[in-house]
Amino acid sequence: MDGLNPAQEFSRQPPEFVMQQSRTCLAIVLAAGEGTRMKSAKPKVLHEIAGRTMLAHVLACVSEAGAQACAVVVGPGRDDVASEVHKMLPGAETFVQTERLGTAHAVLAAKDAIARGYDDIVVMFADTPLVRTSTLASMRAVLAEGASVCVLGFEAADPTGYGRLLQDEGTLVAIREQKDATEAERQVRLANAGLMAFDGRRALDLLGQIGNANSQSEFYLTDLVSVARAQGLESWIVLAPEKDVLGVNDRVQLSVAEAIMQARLREAAMREGTTLIAPETVFFAHDTKLGRDVVIEPHVVFGPGVVVEAGARIKAFSHLEGASVGADAAIGPFGRLRPGTRIDEKAKIGNFVEIKSAHIGAGAAVSHLTYLGDAEVGAGANIGAGTITCNYD
Ligand code: UD1
Ligand code: MG
Repeated sequence: MDGLNPAQEFSRQPPEFVMQQSRTCLAIVLAAGEGTRMKSAKPKVLHEIAGRTMLAHVLACVSEAGAQACAVVVGPGRDDVASEVHKMLPGAETFVQTERLGTAHAVLAAKDAIARGYDDIVVMFADTPLVRTSTLASMRAVLAEGASVCVLGFEAADPTGYGRLLQDEGTLVAIREQKDATEAERQVRLANAGLMAFDGRRALDLLGQIGNANSQSEFYLTDLVSVARAQGLESWIVLAPEKDVLGVNDRVQLSVAEAIMQARLREAAMREGTTLIAPETVFFAHDTKLGRDVVIEPHVVFGPGVVVEAGARIKAFSHLEGASVGADAAIGPFGRLRPGTRIDEKAKIGNFVEIKSAHIGAGAAVSHLTYLGDAEVGAGANIGAGTITCNYD
């Protein structure tokens, strides 16, 4: 089967983590939750972080981890979620979980995909958008070493609400959900992040043995650990930092996830040679591309689709989206570049200038209080203050 091609690459992952494994992998992404705590007209997984949906972040991670196939489980009537899946990963399949009977039941909605036979199956939650490709690669490596099940765990500052990883002399024996745990089990801080990887050849057999005799009468995917153990199969734990496995259930957690993602993007930009004078005031999109020696002054916001070439300066309080900025050009302060804008090298865009679908030639100056829409400005031109070009029907 052909590898998946994400519509847009996740530009910040270090390339050494893109593992080319010989084992085949099916990723199953659970996206059937309604997320009522978001209090939103749209499904939870379509809320955005750094300018793209949580679902798209997870799909990017999956395809970078080397999965040959991806199955996304969606709720009934969720054409909006399915169309986001196909936009991001045209080769992915969607399956509908008609009744919400638990995480194992959701995984089995994709049983036709599982039945095709893969070495590894990785299950991800679409509301857990900060997982790193390298973490998935570690989980797959554990399966290659002989584990039948691999669980992603973390030391929770407050484990309330999470499943707890129960160990016996260093061996993972079971995962206990909060609602089913005894008082002693609730003291365990090692929590289940939700991600699981397991042996694809045994998957249907093991999943079929999971029952729903628990306080929520749900089919828990987490019971895979005890089911496997009963057959003498081993489950291993891979650990991740808590901030990589944050699950988003409400808008407060959405803002925390955004902050974590922004911190990653700022650090990556600076490590690649961009100066951020006040990093915590600059907001990137997941795909912002910056050349060496770009300087970004305080309070700048990037929407998706921006490329800034080497040596350019983005001055304070500017907003850029769907635009390219040539080498050594200057934008702002208070510059606004809208989609379809191309600024060539050494051009200067000054204060209170808005540009949309326009090309500004090399060395041109558009210095003050100007709107240029659908325009072609030649190299070296000087546009006077207060100029407007537009194409309003
Ligand atoms: C789950 C884990 C728990 C873990 C926690 C981490 C189980 C049984 N428990 O609990 O151990 O600590 O995640 O956040 O797996 N979903 C469906 N269909 C269903 C049920 C769930 O698609 O029928 C999806 C949800 O949309 C969500 C994910 O599966 O993306 C997890 O479901 P959720 O109900 O949030 O599980 P938790 O109780 O958080
Ligand atoms: Mg949850």
